[in-house]
Amino acid sequence: MRLIETVAELQAEADRERAAGRRIALIPTMGALHEGHLSLIDEGRSRADRVFLSIFVNPTQFNQASDLDQYPRTFEDDLDQCKRRVVDVVFAPSAEEMYGPGSQTFVDVSELSQPLCGGNRPGHFRGVTTIVAKLLLAAKPHVAVFGEKDAQQLAVIRRMVADLGFDVEVVGAPIVRESDGIAMSSRNVNLHPEARRQATVLVAALDAAESMIAAGERDHAEILRRVNDEISKAPLATIDYAELRDPDTLAPSPGRLSGPALLALAVVFDAPAGESAAGVRLIDNRMLLAGTARGGGRKAEIHDP
Ligand code: PAJ
Repeated sequence: MRLIETVAELQAEADRERAAGRRIALIPTMGALHEGHLSLIDEGRSRADRVFLSIFVNPTQFNQASDLDQYPRTFEDDLDQCKRRVVDVVFAPSAEEMYGPGSQTFVDVSELSQPLCGGNRPGHFRGVTTIVAKLLLAAKPHVAVFGEKDAQQLAVIRRMVADLGFDVEVVGAPIVRESDGIAMSSRNVNLHPEARRQATVLVAALDAAESMIAAGERDHAEILRRVNDEISKAPLATIDYAELRDPDTLAPSPGRLSGPALLALAVVFDAPAGESAAGVRLIDNRMLLAGTARGGGRKAEIHDP
């Protein structure tokens, strides 16, 4: 495994691989790697001959300095995990390497970046699309793999790649969960143990909505009412958003659901009163398939004869 820290060296490595006729998969990450990230390596490996993984805690996508400071950093452990999972190149640049002196160019996907996570985190997606564009130009991959856990991020990146004509296939990979159902996230380690326990309401809310769809419910407001009720069972939870949106355009789903709808959740879990741990904002989502006359939803389809 090679560790590369400069864009020029990564481009040279990509050129060598391409000249030899090998396909490159890029896995962009901010490190603190867990099984969710590692599953993306496997997805990349199945689609390419070489896997490049980037580790860069991108300052431009954090709109609060405290969030950037609190972001977990486990670089040596990340390198060990990459070695074990057979990554060919780890790209770990400095902030100065990615944003040199006088840097002032940004990529902004204007509309898809506004709702959901864009609302409370202004500038977040501009930071994401800017760094992903730079990483694509540096690694020159044939395939770039992103997790469906960050569904809005995936939609925004797909739009950017289409709009700017990047010659890369964007692949979405399924959400990897802990044994109790919580989506794996680098931020989970920052949860107070009691908040960690209560965070299972997120997956309970997604399951409840999916069951309603499977039972034939199509009323947008009714489903969201149940989702809100499930999350409210956690006293430490404060809902940032709980919404049903079109998976591609992110437009709000109609009052009566009639096709695929993305149920997207963002919830802040505080520490119990008097405890010092900071609140942690978790996101999760599920695609609800409200298409068929006899129910729809993944579970209904599996159980249908
Ligand atoms: P990060 O949060 O480190 O996530 C890197 C990739 O791992 C993203 O594509 C994310 O969707 C995916 N991922 C995280 N948790 C996952 C899980 N439980 N299951 C499946 N995939 C999961 O997302 C970012 O970094 C950054 O915004 C980045 C794209 C690297 C740009 O800085």
